[in-house]
Amino acid sequence: VSLQMRNTLAVPANARHFITATTLSELRDGLAFARQHELPQLILGGGSNIVLSRDYDGVVIALNLRGVRVLSDDGETVLVSVAAGENWDAFVRYSLEQGWYGLENLSAIPGSVGAAPIQNIGAYGVELSSVLHAVVGVDLANDSERRLSAAECELSYRDSIFKQGLRDRFVITEVELALHRQSAVNLSYPALAVEVSADASPQEVAAAVRKVRGRKLPSPADLPNAGSFFKNPIISRAQADELQQSHPEMPLWPHGDACKLAAGWLVEQAGWRGVEHNGVGMYREQALVLINPGRCSGERILGFAADIQSSVQDRFGVTLEIEPRVY
Ligand code: FAD
Ligand code: EPU
Repeated sequence: VSLQMRNTLAVPANARHFITATTLSELRDGLAFARQHELPQLILGGGSNIVLSRDYDGVVIALNLRGVRVLSDDGETVLVSVAAGENWDAFVRYSLEQGWYGLENLSAIPGSVGAAPIQNIGAYGVELSSVLHAVVGVDLANDSERRLSAAECELSYRDSIFKQGLRDRFVITEVELALHRQSAVNLSYPALAVEVSADASPQEVAAAVRKVRGRKLPSPADLPNAGSFFKNPIISRAQADELQQSHPEMPLWPHGDACKLAAGWLVEQAGWRGVEHNGVGMYREQALVLINPGRCSGERILGFAADIQSSVQDRFGVTLEIEPRVY
């Protein structure tokens, strides 16, 4: 079964088996099928954060669980459970219509609700961790339903327990979010703050986020991509100080005791912005976004990415880590 229409990089790869799960029991059937045939399974949402380096020799389960339930509402905080197969951005719009605030900065991120905790999606000064209450799913170690509190999800920058200790071991079926009735907009991200006034409404912030994103991020329908291809590297204060001596204009942010660098800046400085080789390139408006206009294979994409990684390593001594999950 072709996955080309199901990954936003438009990589032409196939799955040995493909199952759509619209109910929990269909999900269980899919998992049982994989176990019976001793095959690995890939839980697929919107396919906006994967690189298929080869055909998938296993069972792809497209999760299509739907539904939104209010669990509690005390007039201040609304606790809402959202099924994993709901579209993230559609839910962000819906929450704003309901007057539930906290997701406005996370507008227009592609993909499903169920994938949001996997890399703790973040944008414009806000991460999912600021609103996540709990995650419900199936623990594949014993096939039982399990609920993890937000703390147990171990969310950090582009990371969570689902990429570490529970990697490939947990299917998220529901995400519980704690949203606010009172608006408290976050304009800490400079590129966002310049777009709106300090007393902007959440709806205005959402519109501004959409506008800024529209300038920098290509729509996968026009230009296949998976958003940022590399994580922003986190390096020691000492290494950052040293780098800044030779590159005073280098953007960087404090990150705990360490420093976070702008991978896009490093890629641009290494000369890759707008460069395209054999159908794969780095986007001209945002050098961190790898584009695949040639609809090339994952292997070719990873080869191109490796050239960028070694050139940034040589030039700055900084290691770039790939952000999407590679299969
Ligand atoms: P998929 O690509 O389908 O899956 C990603 C990984 O999560 C896979 O390993 C998959 O197996 C696993 N997974 C998915 N669903 C489940 C589940 N229910 N249970 C267990 N495992 C699961 N990300 C950001 O953080 N911030 C951004 O600003 C941002 N901007 C983007 C812009 C563009 C144009 C694009 C294309 C991507 C962007 N991304 C961004 C990345 C992407 O949108 C997010 O990572 C998103 O959460 C992926 O959702 P998905 O449903 O497409 O996941
Ligand atoms: N920059 C350059 N050249 C470039 C791109 C960026 O110099 O070609 C510089 C910018 O000038 C700015 C800094 O890098 O000083 C940061 O750029 P930007 O605001 O565009 O954000 P980013 O760090 O490149 C991150 C996330 C995005 C998220 C935005 C907004 C990562 C890996 N990426 O990008 O997330 O939307 O911030 O918060 O953390 C994604 O994960 O797929 C994604 C798109």
